[in-house]
Amino acid sequence: MNRQELNSPPQSHAAKTLLRFITCGSVDDGKSSLIGRLLYETHAIFDDQLQALASESKRLGTRGSDLDFALLVDGLAAEREQGITIDVAYRYFETARRKFIVADTPGHEQYTRNMVTGASTADVAILLIDARKGLLEQTKRHSYIASLLGIRHVVLAVNKMDLVGFDERIFRDIENAFRQFSREMAFTQVIAIPVCAVDGDNVSSRSPRLNWYQGEPLLDYLESVTVDRGELDAPFRFPVQWVNRPHADFRGYSGQIASGVIRPGDKIRVLPSGRQTSVESIVTYEGALPEAIAGQSVTLTVADEVDISRGDVLTLSDQAVECGAQFEATLVWMHQQPLLQGRQYFLKIGTRTALCTVAPVKYRVNIHTMEHVSAERLEMNDIGVCELQLDQSVPFEPYTVSRILGGFILIDRLTNDTVGAGMLHFALRRSQNVHWQALAVDRALRSAQKQQRSCVLWLTGLSGAGKSTIADILDQKLLQLGHHSYVLDGDNVRHGLNKDLGFTAQDRVENIRRVAEVSKLMVHAGLITLVSFISPFRSEREMARSLFDPGEFIEVFVDTTLAVAEQRDVKGLYKKARAGKLKNFTGIDSPYEAPQAPEIYIDTAVLSAMQAADLILSHLRAAGFLVGPTP
Ligand code: ADX
Repeated sequence: MNRQELNSPPQSHAAKTLLRFITCGSVDDGKSSLIGRLLYETHAIFDDQLQALASESKRLGTRGSDLDFALLVDGLAAEREQGITIDVAYRYFETARRKFIVADTPGHEQYTRNMVTGASTADVAILLIDARKGLLEQTKRHSYIASLLGIRHVVLAVNKMDLVGFDERIFRDIENAFRQFSREMAFTQVIAIPVCAVDGDNVSSRSPRLNWYQGEPLLDYLESVTVDRGELDAPFRFPVQWVNRPHADFRGYSGQIASGVIRPGDKIRVLPSGRQTSVESIVTYEGALPEAIAGQSVTLTVADEVDISRGDVLTLSDQAVECGAQFEATLVWMHQQPLLQGRQYFLKIGTRTALCTVAPVKYRVNIHTMEHVSAERLEMNDIGVCELQLDQSVPFEPYTVSRILGGFILIDRLTNDTVGAGMLHFALRRSQNVHWQALAVDRALRSAQKQQRSCVLWLTGLSGAGKSTIADILDQKLLQLGHHSYVLDGDNVRHGLNKDLGFTAQDRVENIRRVAEVSKLMVHAGLITLVSFISPFRSEREMARSLFDPGEFIEVFVDTTLAVAEQRDVKGLYKKARAGKLKNFTGIDSPYEAPQAPEIYIDTAVLSAMQAADLILSHLRAAGFLVGPTP
């Protein structure tokens, strides 16, 4: 049997209930051995794998001539990691009583990302603890995340009992410490089991070596624990994954039912638009269904021609979900680069993607004491509560009501890395009563009056590259030609509007956000707006660009080598920075991310400031911004 088959759910025994669980804990706590043991004892390992395992165990194992189950799981993991994209592999096994899916989160155990992915669909978490080490920070973090992600049943598997002489007192101390710690968590059931995963003690049968333990072995517990997520009784929620349109005569909406039940004829509502229609049919590969329930993947056709797209949520008409664009949420940060307040990330919730800014971070949680610590940013593995601002209204439910409509991930806009995961608490109503005020003197009138089309010229480059000099000359030339322009210069804006900001990454993000908003107002006022800011981060320049219509944002890369800028050192700042008297100086100890496709490229080694200004002017003319008759 190949791995593909191994990873496919068993087809038989449809009536058995399914339990999803995750194993977590610190590195080397014995997770692989435990999963390997479970697979072995439930006969989910096949003969050829066993033979391979026996010879591998002799060659590489740590168990003498015994089978080393960690090698089985780790061996598969190593191979799988070559496929790169899979963070979490799901292993299937079954017993006479139940089917199981265990989320195996290989590699990089120090990262929370895999754990979060696996835990988001699990019913039970097995927290592995090395009996010699007790509760570690990672154990606490993983328990907290499991609790936040809605797992209500926890098995504390105190492993490696053989290495502490099967000592009951050690086990009880760990159990008590965990019960104490987990009082703050939302678990409804915590059971502690002493195990020795490599030898199978208390895995599928009671261990004579641990005869002071009167409870059931791990597998018995997993077979008997009752979990009910209430998905069937909850109202119908259907996030549309894609619009299925194979030919002109068919249009269906495909996705997985998050909760509830649906039948043809049911009146439904489309969120966020609020439009109503009714279900005409429920289509699957096996034919039309009279009813579909939570967990099923189906295609719905509807009675009327209403606009429904990917990311919309379908509900019953009288049980609609709320929509919101500002939220309070818990956020788990999972990337080496810290969360920057004010930076835009993609937020993926259900099947919808929106642009999201995190501001402000309200607090971070101290994982040892559960105290709220005031924080401006979140570092890798930090868990905090913050406010989110989205660029659109999205249908949602609080995470405590729906994991699917309340859980989200944040994705870096440029690298596409998943950088955070979170849970929505509630929508903030702050902007609800603020409406856009239409003004009679609009942009077109102002442009006509000024005989020009307004735009923004965004000059970016190192300090001392010549941005301000070029902007100043260009401003004068525009004035002479009878045009209306204004220079927003970093140093000048930092004297007033931005005088509360310094040069940390965080402050630079905010610096650019503000000047981007100001330049937008100036463009609305009909001005040719020259922005001269280092603006070192690609992400924020892209954010600024996104505020404008296509073609209106003209990025001008004023390129000078660091050596030349440093040699000029007009303000003497490079010297100070080199001497360590000025921190976070761009190019020295703070990065500059050069534009990859600027509209205008100026090589200051080749062009003088005057020539650079002329080059920009000719671009403006060619692109039709200087429409009026020139005096
Ligand atoms: S930005 O990076 O946030 O866009 P901005 O253009 O506003 O920077 O300000 C840059 C100007 O601030 C520089 O021209 C320089 O005169 C001054 N400055 C003072 N400290 C620093 C620093 N640490 N890094 C860069 N510029 C600095």
